[in-house]
Amino acid sequence: MLEHDVLVVGAGLAGLRVAIEAQKQGVDVAVITKVHPVRSHSNAAQGGINAALEQEGSPDSWEAHAFDTVKGSDYLGDQDAIEIICREAGPEIIELEHMGVVFNRDETGHLGVRAFGGATYSRTFFVGDITGQALLHVMYEQVLKANTRIYEEWFVTSLIVEDGVCRGVVAMDLATRRLHTIKAKAVVLATGGAGRVFEPSTNALIVTGDGISQAYRAGAPLMDMEMVQFHPTTLKQNGALLTEGARGEGAYLLNAEGERFLGNERNQFYAPSKMELAARDVISRAEQIEIDAGRGVDGCVLLDCRHLGEDLIRERLWQIWELAMDFANVDIMKDPVPIRPGVHYIMGGIKTDVDGRAWDVNGGGWGGVKGLFAVGECACINAHGANRLGANSLLETVVYGRRAGLTAGFYVKEAPTALLSEAKMADDESRIKEIISRPDNGDRWAALRLEMGEMMNSQVGIFRTKENLEGALEKIQEMKLRYRHVPIQNKGNIFNTDLQFHLELGLMLDCAEVIALSALSREESRGAHYRLDFPARDDEKWLKHTMAYYTPEGPEMDTLPVTITQWEPTERKY
Ligand code: FUM
Repeated sequence: MLEHDVLVVGAGLAGLRVAIEAQKQGVDVAVITKVHPVRSHSNAAQGGINAALEQEGSPDSWEAHAFDTVKGSDYLGDQDAIEIICREAGPEIIELEHMGVVFNRDETGHLGVRAFGGATYSRTFFVGDITGQALLHVMYEQVLKANTRIYEEWFVTSLIVEDGVCRGVVAMDLATRRLHTIKAKAVVLATGGAGRVFEPSTNALIVTGDGISQAYRAGAPLMDMEMVQFHPTTLKQNGALLTEGARGEGAYLLNAEGERFLGNERNQFYAPSKMELAARDVISRAEQIEIDAGRGVDGCVLLDCRHLGEDLIRERLWQIWELAMDFANVDIMKDPVPIRPGVHYIMGGIKTDVDGRAWDVNGGGWGGVKGLFAVGECACINAHGANRLGANSLLETVVYGRRAGLTAGFYVKEAPTALLSEAKMADDESRIKEIISRPDNGDRWAALRLEMGEMMNSQVGIFRTKENLEGALEKIQEMKLRYRHVPIQNKGNIFNTDLQFHLELGLMLDCAEVIALSALSREESRGAHYRLDFPARDDEKWLKHTMAYYTPEGPEMDTLPVTITQWEPTERKY
């Protein structure tokens, strides 16, 4: 049996940051990932990473960053978690620079910043529009340097939980289809979000909610899963991201009449003071209103970068120039490009404390699974509440990745060694054999996945109602029943992606169910969650988190209070 002290699942920025820190504690660390590490979805992060670097002459401060984040979260973010992420941001940027990240510089040679949405001051550090890629490569170098064991192209099929303690995972080596039990004293999930539960989405095809659903099935509660962010600028053709950094550099959003509509006071949702740099939920709603009112262009509005000039676009926005050229045949130096809001990020996830533990060390009532940690988008440390600010997600991966790595490193030194049964592996083997043996007829997983994604986009989208959420839940139930009979065509053992994608769909359906039910239960509008039938924020009833617990009959819902430290909720306007 394979065995490690700390097993990190996922090799994006969060996972690699965990591995680097845990390894420093002198414990045996391994990373398991279903794709090569630099193909992880962090690679697609474009615009930058936030930090209020306290430099001489700068009016910015970690407190200003924290307040912007609290307001961005529509007061649902836990303020202790927000204080930590903002306070620890500066040192983390310096650390990244020392690791070798070549951030853009300003004209004085210092680290340069650009503006981003919802921020009082410009505080987004960046590498052109490939910030995630730059960070990921540097972090991967660090992991290689430390000789960390990487199980590359291995897919976790289950977490192993015995007596309420996570003791390892069952994983499939994709090259051979062979299952293995990997024993670990701590398992750290860093598997990313669930963006592909919706179609289209800015997320890579691999972002299928694996860790979220596996933790949930294993007994860890999910928090605020209704909070799904629509990014305001995604390409009409395929949903690809065009970075907020473009608006940070000064790009405009226009309707069909050529109007910068965000300044128009015709609607309470618009943002006359922050304009294109309001929070994402606000801008996405405004865009959808323009489109629905017939002031769009072919189901889109327009992102206009023409006035930014060729030099700036070449230096700072080259990737989006290429994306618009390749997929929309638009040269953003010459023409506005059609864009629309698209699913980008899930604020909810596996409930953890501020050190990434997915169990309640204080016995405060949310339970969880001892020995299990979560970090990055799959986790809900709750620094984002109902709406994440752009460029706070890369920050989360490094701040909370370091904290979780450190905590897991300490935890395993104290954790007792236990014997581990291979029963879970036997269960997974028979589950997989049953799928392979199904007669090759009926639904295809790809068709079912698309049906689910499109349904989620239309019924659990920017504007929600009781009726469409109930309809969504009914459809998800029906799809879950159909899924039980979906066959695969490839019966072989070598890189059987047919099987892998089939297993992923089962996990996605669980995520979809929890998202829809959580959205139905929250009877108010806050941040990214907008209920046409409950259009106001309701602090009296809903200044609290939704919690979803697994039961074989479906999710059981509960709530938890929001942690307020210094910022009492007030009206949110941009
Ligand atoms: O627009 C962007 O570059 C995305 C950044 C983020 O989601 O943090």
